[in-house]
Amino acid sequence: MTITVDGAPVTGARGQSIAGVLMADGRRDWRTTSVAARPRGLFCGIGVCFDCIVTVNDLADVRACLRRAQDGDVVTRQHHLLPGADA
Ligand code: FES
Repeated sequence: MTITVDGAPVTGARGQSIAGVLMADGRRDWRTTSVAARPRGLFCGIGVCFDCIVTVNDLADVRACLRRAQDGDVVTRQHHLLPGADA
């Protein structure tokens, strides 16, 4: 099973969550916070904290720890500014 992460192919095992695939690939963060652009990745691992959100197949705010990776998924790093904030 292969997904694309920020344009690069990443291979995972069937049944893994997207967070599992990313962690197994050596990634520890895959989004940045709206304030101060701090790196975030897996924190609670059970769908509570929303630290792990990514964009999957053009759908934003997907919790990577809950979403099972599907072959061909396109995952992109997420960074949303707060309304009115400068880049
Ligand atoms: S790591 Fe907390 S919701 Fe995914």
